[in-house]
Amino acid sequence: MAKELRVGMIGYGFMGRTHSNAYKRLNDFFQVEHRPVLKAVCARNAEKAQAFADNWGYERIETDWKKLVEAPDIDLIDIGSPNNTHKEIAIAAAKNGKMIVCEKPLAMTVAEAEEMVAAVEAAGVPNMVWFNYRRVPAIALAKQVVDEGRIGRPFHYRATYLQDWTIAEDVPQGGAALWRLDSAVAGSGVTGDLLAHSIDTAMWLNGPITRVVGKTETFVKERMHAETGKKQPVTIDDACMFLAEFANGSMGTFESTRYARGRKNFNTFEMNGADGSVYFDLEEPEYLQYFEYKQLQSGKKKESHLTGWVKIHTTNGEHPYMKHYWVPGTCIGYEHTFLNALADFVAGVESGKPTQPDFRNALQTQKVCDAVLQSAREGRWLDTGVTL
Ligand SMILES: NC(=O)c1ccc[n+]([C@@H]2O[C@H](COP(=O)([O-])OP(=O)(O)OC[C@H]3O[C@@H](n4cnc5c(N)ncnc54)[C@H](O)[C@@H]3O)[C@@H](O)[C@H]2O)c1
Repeated sequence: MAKELRVGMIGYGFMGRTHSNAYKRLNDFFQVEHRPVLKAVCARNAEKAQAFADNWGYERIETDWKKLVEAPDIDLIDIGSPNNTHKEIAIAAAKNGKMIVCEKPLAMTVAEAEEMVAAVEAAGVPNMVWFNYRRVPAIALAKQVVDEGRIGRPFHYRATYLQDWTIAEDVPQGGAALWRLDSAVAGSGVTGDLLAHSIDTAMWLNGPITRVVGKTETFVKERMHAETGKKQPVTIDDACMFLAEFANGSMGTFESTRYARGRKNFNTFEMNGADGSVYFDLEEPEYLQYFEYKQLQSGKKKESHLTGWVKIHTTNGEHPYMKHYWVPGTCIGYEHTFLNALADFVAGVESGKPTQPDFRNALQTQKVCDAVLQSAREGRWLDTGVTL
């Protein structure tokens, strides 16, 4: 008989929805022993939390996360609330012996993230951070291609993560979704919000980032705060670029902004090695582009007028995650990246082999984010202290 996985969800926003969808669909697509039960959703506004609970099928609501993390009928706490809440909730959940799945960035700072790692490791509770892009089949295929040695010695890693939704000066800071512009709640701007994803993917594919030098900019210096109604200084980074050195000797460039007119969620990376390259663009998420040089080099193939990049439609059963879904040639979507992540997490709990990224792994991404921001303030290269 299936084991119940009784879920306590914190936050009913964007991530509350993507995660709830994943819990509901898990057993439809993945053969795991656990069956998620949507026990309770927690948010401060009872009316809105109740509406969310009714819509998604949660049994009850809580308005104080402290009650939720102590509730005996909850096995897993899902932290889908803003960044400034992650640490306190995760530590309390760990003390209460709950499994924890936490949204990214893990914390506001490295110091906070270290406390969280210590708490989950002391409690011995399964934990994961929702770096869901690892679970895009095409990105997981890139990982496979790199691990198979197909691109050879890496030289370059190039990442961009571009949006355009904060260009207007009258976009307020603070409150639902717009807490991202308020550094007291978000910790940082695009560095923690967007580049954390790029850094997680980069270190997963290409190993530790050891040194960085960054430059940040805040284009709109003051915005009305939704909670006070007053114009207040903006202290998040609107844009961030940094150069990186990887432990394997390759070089990286990372660029992120919310001021790239026309770009909505333009998340790309390219990795160039001696024997090949891979390229991914989230606006065409089912494709991995691959340039193969190895076969040419070994004489097995000849350069011809057909030599070039191949665009792999990652929809075959042989591609990561795809055997769980439809027939070849048919795509899955953004929401499935969370479903795939949840399936990996549950499989890790069942096998005793924890899935990644766990809190300790996500702490390494936090170290890079903090080093980039400090480097931008000080205008110099800094060691990241990453230990992967
Ligand atoms: N993995 C991803 O791709 C991805 C995408 C978006 C957001 N995120 C992360 O997810 C988290 C939430 O972002 P979002 O976009 O869902 O935000 P959101 O503003 O849409 O939702 C936040 C939710 O948290 C609730 N909340 C705020 N403070 C709370 C508290 N003290 N107690 C209980 N509930 C509280 C709000 O009521 C709201 O329901 C952030 O850490 C963010 O960085 C990750």
